[in-house]
Amino acid sequence: MRRRAMLEGCAAAVTVPFLAACGLLEGDAQAVDELAFDPDDFTTRKKTVATFERDKKVTYRFYDNVVYVAKPVDKTYQSLNVSVPVEIEGRSVDASRAPILFSNSVGGYLSSAAKSDEPDGGAKRNRDLALAAGYVVVEPGVRGRDLVAPDGTNYGVAAAAIVDLKAAVRYLRHNSGRVPGNTDRIVATGISAGGALSALLAASADNRMYDRYLVELGAADASDAVFAAAPYCPITDLEHADMAYEWNWGANPLRSGELDATVSHDLSTAFPDYQAALELQGGDGFGLITAANYGNYLVRTYLEPAATKYLHALPDADRSSYLAANTWITWSGDRAEFTWPNFLAHVGERKKGVPAFDAFDLSSAENNLFGSGTVKARHFTLFSLRKATGDPGAVLDSDLPEKISMMNPMFFLRQRNPARAKHWWIRLGTKDTEASLTIVGNLAASLANLGDQVDASMYWDAGHASNEDAADFVAWIGKVTGYTA
Ligand code: DHB
Repeated sequence: MRRRAMLEGCAAAVTVPFLAACGLLEGDAQAVDELAFDPDDFTTRKKTVATFERDKKVTYRFYDNVVYVAKPVDKTYQSLNVSVPVEIEGRSVDASRAPILFSNSVGGYLSSAAKSDEPDGGAKRNRDLALAAGYVVVEPGVRGRDLVAPDGTNYGVAAAAIVDLKAAVRYLRHNSGRVPGNTDRIVATGISAGGALSALLAASADNRMYDRYLVELGAADASDAVFAAAPYCPITDLEHADMAYEWNWGANPLRSGELDATVSHDLSTAFPDYQAALELQGGDGFGLITAANYGNYLVRTYLEPAATKYLHALPDADRSSYLAANTWITWSGDRAEFTWPNFLAHVGERKKGVPAFDAFDLSSAENNLFGSGTVKARHFTLFSLRKATGDPGAVLDSDLPEKISMMNPMFFLRQRNPARAKHWWIRLGTKDTEASLTIVGNLAASLANLGDQVDASMYWDAGHASNEDAADFVAWIGKVTGYTA
């Protein structure tokens, strides 16, 4: 199948790798592989990483801003950094077969360049710990929704970011053996919009919908499948995110203004049909997850375990005062118990208005994400499009349905994409009201129902973009990849 598509792509593709792959170039064509990684083009750097046990001194090779496509639209973003540990605590390490942490820095679906040493919290912590554990770290830059060409064309709107991530993975695999690390053990990670993109990359692996965009960029012809994914608070399933949000946080107040209760109600009442269509089973004999039992499902699967872990870790006096201030939690001595409505009241204010994602005034990040050409922002749900225009027969622009699917990991999981990653680490703070908790609930349940290995949990009382168990994540990478440095 891949070969046939490649041949079809040949008419449009003028890059050397494609011509070579099509058999249109002779012998020495390989010598001018524009996408060959140069293993010798690095600088040596040192850093000290604070690990759980002690500070570790790491010496590593740093490959700076390596362009990963033959025909970049914008090199600033379509390039990646590679960090390869060579010495840890005075001991030489050989990372040539180490897992590769593929960590994007996307936030808000904005562009992100492959800059090094950005102070970006949870993602940086994972990268530093991974390096100190002897893994290779790749930081891909990607185009984002904010990029506008001088002629007014938006060139980073959907599906540019995911196409770029796929091109970067293809580049690594194309350079297998030249680029340090095991390209069959890539672990994709990111936070929020970056988390969404890491989940999408892993779920949509090798799907043909992206091929024409990859050909246009002169991306390497190789698989873009990754071994594992670690999305943190993924802002995803965007076309269902408004109904899910109102189902979850619909009764929670908004600090900065009034909420339209009718709109909230209309959206939340659309959620049960969507949830039913997913036909997801909860673990431990829970049975079918429905809108009616989803609160209980979240309490039992994520929220009580998160509260329990949190309370266990507190010193006795702090636990007592927490429980005294939160009498809605029953602490049996080793387990926290509570109801869904009490949990919602505890979380309090919601972060977003209504609709949370497809804003009537086209002001959201996601409206901009689904912009096109010189149009900065568009509606991507019929609900908001029709409400905002007052036209009950309005339909989305014809290019949108495909682009919306291309941005949604759930679309590929519902197709049971066999090339998807089979190992998942999924995290979310219980006080993160940037999206519905069901977004993570459904992502994790979809994967578990497909038989994948899923380590999904929530951080109690934690907000957006939290990462509270970075050391566990790095140990998990070692476990699922079977690698020890
Ligand atoms: C992010 C946060 C959001 O609330 C959103 O809608 C999209 C992206 C982010 O932090 O990346």
